[in-house]
Amino acid sequence: MTDRLAGLYPLHLQTLTQRHDRALAESGYDHAVIFAGAIRMAFLDDMPYPFKPNPHFKAWVPVLDNPNCYVVYTPGQRPRLIYFQPVDYWYKPAANPSGYWVDHFDIKIIATPEDAKQHFPRNGRVAFIGEDQPTPEPLLNRLHFDRAWKTEYEIECMRRANRIGARAHRAAERAFRSGASEYEIHLDYLQAANSTEEELPYANIIGLNENAAVLHYIQHDRRRLEEQRRFSFLIDAGANVNGYASDITRTHSQRDDEFAQMIQAFDAGQQELCAAVKPKISYPDLHMNAHRMVAKMLEQFRFTRDIDAGGIVEKGISSTFFPHGVGHYIGLQVHDVAGFMADRTGKSIPKPEGHPHLRLTRTVEPTHVFTVEPGMYFIEPLLADLKKSANAKYINWPKVDDFRKFGGIRIEDDVVVTASGHENLTRAAFAET
Ligand code: GLY
Ligand code: MN
Ligand code: MN
Repeated sequence: MTDRLAGLYPLHLQTLTQRHDRALAESGYDHAVIFAGAIRMAFLDDMPYPFKPNPHFKAWVPVLDNPNCYVVYTPGQRPRLIYFQPVDYWYKPAANPSGYWVDHFDIKIIATPEDAKQHFPRNGRVAFIGEDQPTPEPLLNRLHFDRAWKTEYEIECMRRANRIGARAHRAAERAFRSGASEYEIHLDYLQAANSTEEELPYANIIGLNENAAVLHYIQHDRRRLEEQRRFSFLIDAGANVNGYASDITRTHSQRDDEFAQMIQAFDAGQQELCAAVKPKISYPDLHMNAHRMVAKMLEQFRFTRDIDAGGIVEKGISSTFFPHGVGHYIGLQVHDVAGFMADRTGKSIPKPEGHPHLRLTRTVEPTHVFTVEPGMYFIEPLLADLKKSANAKYINWPKVDDFRKFGGIRIEDDVVVTASGHENLTRAAFAET
């Protein structure tokens, strides 16, 4: 299973070293010391928070569960991995480093966190990248800007993360169809993904009925709903391969009803948005196309009246039903860095007015990876605001009221820009599963 990754890793490492060579030179440093991170305890407690490694560290090595490690890189030299292996009988120490990446590093084993310092560079200007110490911003800006272009290795990790996600989404849908609670669906997802909660790239969003309208709903209600009280199911859940994320959303209807037709129409609309992805498209244009798609849905399914799709967008009505951005970069972080960066110095590209939640304003290029995740929801507080506004007259309120119980729809795929178009990692993964 790791064969292809073993073949792709050397070029990934070469790209990383070249990016660091350039970024260090441009920002005036001789070495980078990249800290994986430390274990954090809860306030007044000896219980740790889940360990989340520094993304800059896991870009170099797929070591995700070992704190107090460092990568030390000096241009022109073999990268060094300082690897933490304490003598401990309270917690299990990390296993010996193994895998396709190991031979590329000069590995130093340390038994205590303090021992790391003896393996740091002794002279020259050192840039520290990690928690607890200031990280030089000019360096960070350059490394972040470059991260938008994924290596083949990174894309393959995300391809695999999508396959795991698709398999687990199928298990979750089966659980929903069999009458399971949100919590039970969540457990089935974890099992099918062969994952713990802490290994997931983000907390599973598993909402039945109205809960689908809470954008980041992570409560996992234990109650099963009676058959006649079950209407809809929205699941936003991903997987993690070597520190790279997938981020996938699907929506299901309990019955063969109008909501099922809406999901089908929305899915076709989402696929049309994806079909337009190719080099040099502006992501804010994709976002505005998503607004037009949502507006057409509102018109077609008669949630609005006396106004056409163009007017629905122009008057901001679509934002009540679609109040988030159409997506974001994805990679080492689910919401990956650099979505607003105009250049490597850190200048940013502003969000379009009226769209404060858009996380990506760049023009996309080959090997950029991002999500396409339009949504359409019946969100109580936003509908209450709309009802008080001058736009209230354009809404077919009895119809809206009938659909509040479904919560909403979101469909989310992860898409890679290719030389001439795109590859949809998520659709391909579902097709294989
Ligand atoms: N799962 C978080 C998001 O879709 O952005
Ligand atoms: Mn997303
Ligand atoms: Mn998501």
